Order: sequence, then C-alpha cells, then structure tokens
Amino acid sequence: MSNFTTTQTGTPVSSDAHSLSTGADGAVALHDRYLVEKLAQFNRERMPERIVHAKGGGAFGEFVVTEDVSKYTRAAVFQPGTVTETVQRFSSVAGEMGSPDTWRDVRGFAMRFYTTEGNYDIVGNNTPVFFIRDGIKFPDFIHSQKRLPGSGLRDADMQWDFWTNSPESAHQVTYLMGDRGLPTSWREMPGFGSHTYQWINAAGERFWVKYHFTSNQGNSEMTGAEAEKIAGADADYYRRDLYEAIAEGNFPSWDLHVQVMPYEDAKTYRFNPFDLTKVWPHADYPLIKVGTHTLNRNPENFFAQIEQVALSPANLVPGIDASPDKMLMARIFSYPDAQRYRIGANYNQLPVNAPKAPVNNYSQDGAMRFSYNTPETPVYAPNTLGGPVADAALAGAGSWENDGALVRSAATLHSEDSDFGQAGTLYREVFDDAAKQRFLETITGAISGVKRPHIREAAIQYWTNVDAVLGEKLRLSLAQGETTANEKAEFVGVAE
Ligand code: HEM
Repeated sequence: MSNFTTTQTGTPVSSDAHSLSTGADGAVALHDRYLVEKLAQFNRERMPERIVHAKGGGAFGEFVVTEDVSKYTRAAVFQPGTVTETVQRFSSVAGEMGSPDTWRDVRGFAMRFYTTEGNYDIVGNNTPVFFIRDGIKFPDFIHSQKRLPGSGLRDADMQWDFWTNSPESAHQVTYLMGDRGLPTSWREMPGFGSHTYQWINAAGERFWVKYHFTSNQGNSEMTGAEAEKIAGADADYYRRDLYEAIAEGNFPSWDLHVQVMPYEDAKTYRFNPFDLTKVWPHADYPLIKVGTHTLNRNPENFFAQIEQVALSPANLVPGIDASPDKMLMARIFSYPDAQRYRIGANYNQLPVNAPKAPVNNYSQDGAMRFSYNTPETPVYAPNTLGGPVADAALAGAGSWENDGALVRSAATLHSEDSDFGQAGTLYREVFDDAAKQRFLETITGAISGVKRPHIREAAIQYWTNVDAVLGEKLRLSLAQGETTANEKAEFVGVAE
C-alpha cells in the first residue's frame, strides 16, 4: 500500500483535515470531490444486520480428517487424511448487532469447509434440537423473541405465549433455560448440526447423519449473576475471548463426530428422525469420530470477512444432501434469499464466500459482478459450443421416496414421539440436583416477567407437562416471589 492518501479512484488527495472553502471562513464548495466522496462513502458503511444471529464473531481454521468414514460418504472433505480450510462464525440468536454476548440465548455454531468440490456449510447451534419443527412458524417464533412493535422492548408475555402454544418447543427451552444457555465462552461449548442430513457413499448407499462437535477446551458455563455482571462490563466478552485466544496462539479445537442411522431404520425408529425437536440417544446411534477442527487465524477485517460471510444450509457438496426435515427444507430457501438482500445478488463472489473450487455456470450480470466467463463461453444451456455441462454422477445428490397428496399436516408420529418426553428426560436424567435448582431459579425469574395471568398459568402447565414435580416447585417459587414482592411493596409503602 502506498503511503499517500488517494480518492477511491486512486488519485492523490490534498487534505484530510480541511474542506475546500471560498476563503478561510467561507462556504464549503460542493465540488470538493474528496469531501463529497468521503461523506457519501461513510453514509453507506452499514448494511442490514442479519435478521437473526446478528451479534457474533468468527475466525478461520482447518479441518483434518483423522478417521475413515468413507463407507458412509463419498464427500471429498471427509475422506481420510484430507485437510480443508474453514471459516467459522459464532453468534447469539435474538439480540441485535450491539447486544451483550452474555445475554441468555442459544448460540450459533456455523462453519464453512472450502472443499475441492465447492463450499460445504454446517450452520448449527450449541444445542442438538430447535424450538419448532416446521419452517412456517419461524417468523412468528422470532417475532416473539425480539421486540414489541410499540415500545421496542423485549417481552416475557409474548415469549411464553408463543412457547406454551408451541409445545414442541419444550425440549429446546429446557436447554435454553438450563446451563447451556450461558456458556463461559464460544471456545468452551459444543456444536451441533442439529438437523438430520443425508450421506451418500461411493456405491450410492444412503445414510442419515447427525453432526456433533465436542470442544477440546471442555464445556463450561457461567451463572446468571455472572453473565449479568459481564453484560454490563463488556458487551463483547465472547468476541474478545475468541480473538485474544487465537492472537496468543491458544487455538481452540473441536472433534467432529457423527451419529449414523442406516437408511431403512428411519421408518421404524422410535422417534421421527427428521423431527428437529428430537435427539437420537447415543445408546441407539453411538458417536463415530470423523476429525478435528481447529481455529488458528483471526480475521484481518471483521466486516469483510465475518459480517459479509454468507453461511447457508443450502451449501451442500457431492455425498451430502438434505433430509425430509421440514425445517431444513425451509432453511435451504431462506439463507440465500436473506443473503441476496443483506449483501447483494453476487455475494458469492466476495473473497470470504468464493469457493476454492472453480465456478462454472450460465448465471450472469447483476449488481457488483466482477467474475465472468470467457467471451467464447455460450450464455445458454444446452449448447453445442463447449459450455459447461451438468453431470448427475459428479453431483452425487441424495434422494428419498415420497408419495401422497399435497397436504398441510404434522409429520408422522413414531412410537415414542411426544412434545414433552425428551425435555423431561433432559431435566430428570441429565441435569444434576444443582443444575435442577439453577434451572428452577431461571424459569421462575423468566416467568415472573409475564404480566398476563393466563400466560403465566400456561407456563406452569407447560413445565408440569415436562415434569410434574418441577411444575409444583415452579408454582410454589412463583408464589413465594409474589409474596416477597408484595411484602416489599408494603414495606416501601409504610416507609414512605
Ligand atoms: C426454518 C427455520 C429457520 C430459518 C427460516 C432461519 C433463517 C435464518 C436467516 C435468514 C439467517 C441470516 C442469514 C444471513 O443473513 O446470513 C439465519 C442465521 C443463522 N441461523 Fe437460522 N433459520 C432457521 C433455523 C435455524 C436452525 C434450526 C439453526 C440451528 C440448528 C439456525 C442457525 C443459524 C445460525 C447459526 C445463523 C447465523 C449464521 C452466521 O453465523 O452467519 N437457524 N437463520
């Protein structure tokens, strides 16, 4: 870089301190083209923040395949010994761009593999399940977690109204209100692909797969009180932690494991394997190790490399495909659509989004296009002029059998499917006594913010459905909280 300042078109400028004016005290000249350019450029520095997961941070790294899972997938990225460059972004779901990192929330765990067969992205969370199981509910769910249109405030009534009217949310809300909702850092939390994906091997055999990233830093969580204190002191706590760890050479890593379900098992498995609100117990499908992901390079420019990264469940590669999960199918539409709006039609040409594999197709033009085919390449397919040709064998796509009329219906229930069953197991069998106590305090605090009695009652019923004893304890602790609040009010009244 030269050490003199230039305009955006590369010509030297006279001053960064003084506008061009008619005399030292006179009017500023509109033809000060550098002043105009500088102000105009500044006015355009912001682009829309992500509609969800707006606050985050990220880094670059590499994924090394340490095991042999080639009998399950032909994907080049997962063949033994393969090393692939990656980018990863962590985030919180509901808060805006400037929100404190340590607000209780689910955390995004999203990564891209720049594979030899094109970009492969896993866009998951630090929880293995989600709040809903049909994408048509997603805008309503997010509206209920964000802000009231009038006051611009977040609101416990609408959160609990949505959740209690969507009982499939119980499993994920149990994670959210449990310790998982407040990790100590992004480095010390797990990641999950959450959905069931399809793997296809070289012989064309199909498998159903779930991704699990286990942190080699271990899992660690903070208490509500600690998180609140940090939120006030350092809104960028997680972002700083990740950046500083990598800058110091303390590279965080995660081992990737998969659960693999034989294709035919899906029909008869005790839980609908395409229901995003359910896990597959490890006893049914144990973890199989694939390799290790290490983050070892900070971004040089946060905006260009992390804000503009466009991670998407639609970015699949040969040997890896979607499954009949209705949420996943909605997401495959939603992300590229959001990114065309948020970044621009040609967002995949930006350096952080451009694949390392060659791009060959007939799409052209659009704002900000700067990569293009040679003039000899035809602009249409099919052609007899040597243009790129689609090749199903190379594409390695998956498939599944489907028939039936078009309907709007809940997915088929399997023998042990229920909205509250796995949430109850998580509460009773995974949380120890101390975690159960913290959980009770957290939900009591959260539901105390609900103003409408019928929504509060619905919330008590919701947790009673998860676990009857928990429901009783919640009713009691909410009543105690009210008594204390009334006593306080009376006391203040007397004192006044
Ligand atoms: C149908 C349901 C869903 C819809 C419509 C949806 C939509 C979106 C959209 C539009 C974005 C912003 C993308 C961008 O501007 O770059 C986003 C970001 C994100 N979503 Fe979803 N989402 C859904 C469900 C999920 C689920 C189930 C997960 C996790 C398992 C998830 C994890 C994430 C993450 C981690 C990000 C941030 C990606 C990044 O770091 O750039 N979402 N989502």
